[in-house]
Amino acid sequence: SASEKGGWSSFMAKEISEQPDAVTNTLRGRIHDGQAVVPELEAFGDDVLAGISRIVIVACGTAAYAGQTAKYAIEKWAKVPVDVELSHEFRYRDPVLTADTLVISISQSGETMDTLMAVKYAREAGAKAISICNTQGATIPRESDAVIYTHAGPEVAVASTKGFTGQIAALYLFALHLARVRNTLSLEELAEQVLELQAIPEKIATTLLQEDAVRQLAVWMTDSRAVLFLGRHVGFPIALEGALKLKELAYIHAEGFAAGELKHGPIALIEPGQPVFVVVPSPRGSAHLHPKVVSNIQEIRARGARIIAIAEQGDAAVLPFADTVFHIPLAGPLFEPLLAVVPLQMFAIELATAKGLDVDQPRNLAKSVTVE
Ligand code: G6P
Repeated sequence: SASEKGGWSSFMAKEISEQPDAVTNTLRGRIHDGQAVVPELEAFGDDVLAGISRIVIVACGTAAYAGQTAKYAIEKWAKVPVDVELSHEFRYRDPVLTADTLVISISQSGETMDTLMAVKYAREAGAKAISICNTQGATIPRESDAVIYTHAGPEVAVASTKGFTGQIAALYLFALHLARVRNTLSLEELAEQVLELQAIPEKIATTLLQEDAVRQLAVWMTDSRAVLFLGRHVGFPIALEGALKLKELAYIHAEGFAAGELKHGPIALIEPGQPVFVVVPSPRGSAHLHPKVVSNIQEIRARGARIIAIAEQGDAAVLPFADTVFHIPLAGPLFEPLLAVVPLQMFAIELATAKGLDVDQPRNLAKSVTVE
């Protein structure tokens, strides 16, 4: 009903706007003396966490992109190899699991059958399982050794938004907790990352202020037949998520690519007028990657692509080559996904709205898929 939406045009619009609170709530009670301390992980004991040799993340849809994003942070901070697998692929290919493999499932609903089956399979094979979940008492957490709830609040819209940012926040807390227990970063380095995480809610709020500009672009792009998304490093899963959102909500053919892969195939798709969203890494934090992505932009611009850049505030290098720029506040390189995804979520909802579509209940989709 309209009152449940609290004045918003849709649950999805409401949930997008709730992301600052969602992340705040995910962090609450899990930071002590400037360090990430996740009480739920105490079920394991530090020695068990310190002895993990490998992490396998299983999830579907948007949750899998949260997992792909977290892989960069877990490997960087805690120095544990991470594989991210779609639950339904993992379960049916005889994966190698040992007692020192930790399986992390990510599921907003906690009821996705594919992911539940993957968790059951992993535990039967002797692995330990942690669940990242947004729904209290759901089936997947009950079937896991421990659960880190995201506390993003109920997500009603079929397409996940605050669920996603809450998942990344929870996974980063996990990664920082793990890095502390494993001694792979100094307490000072850890505290720096914790501060970055605590600054995210306010930065998401700032990013949300570009709604009108996003709407304008969406209205202008209502007739687009295909939209491409490019990203590199943590921007890559965000490109995939941006494309998924557009497929789900606006029924537009959308693909995400790793920017470095462009020259190995996707550049053949570029023709005059082709819209391409590019998630641009920070020129400060990712000084080695930034020029590479800017040169990708130049290459496709020269072939007629229309560039919509998601770039850090003050990034002057992209301006001459972009038709539109959405800015995100300065953040550490691993934290950019939590901001860069926001304009992509807003774009998908605005484009779907401009096309007159039901954004909360897209055709053919279910909020949680409880069959295999
Ligand atoms: C469905 C939804 C997606 C969601 C996926 C995983 O397909 O339409 O938006 O990302 O399930 O859901 P989960 O509840 O496991 O995160």
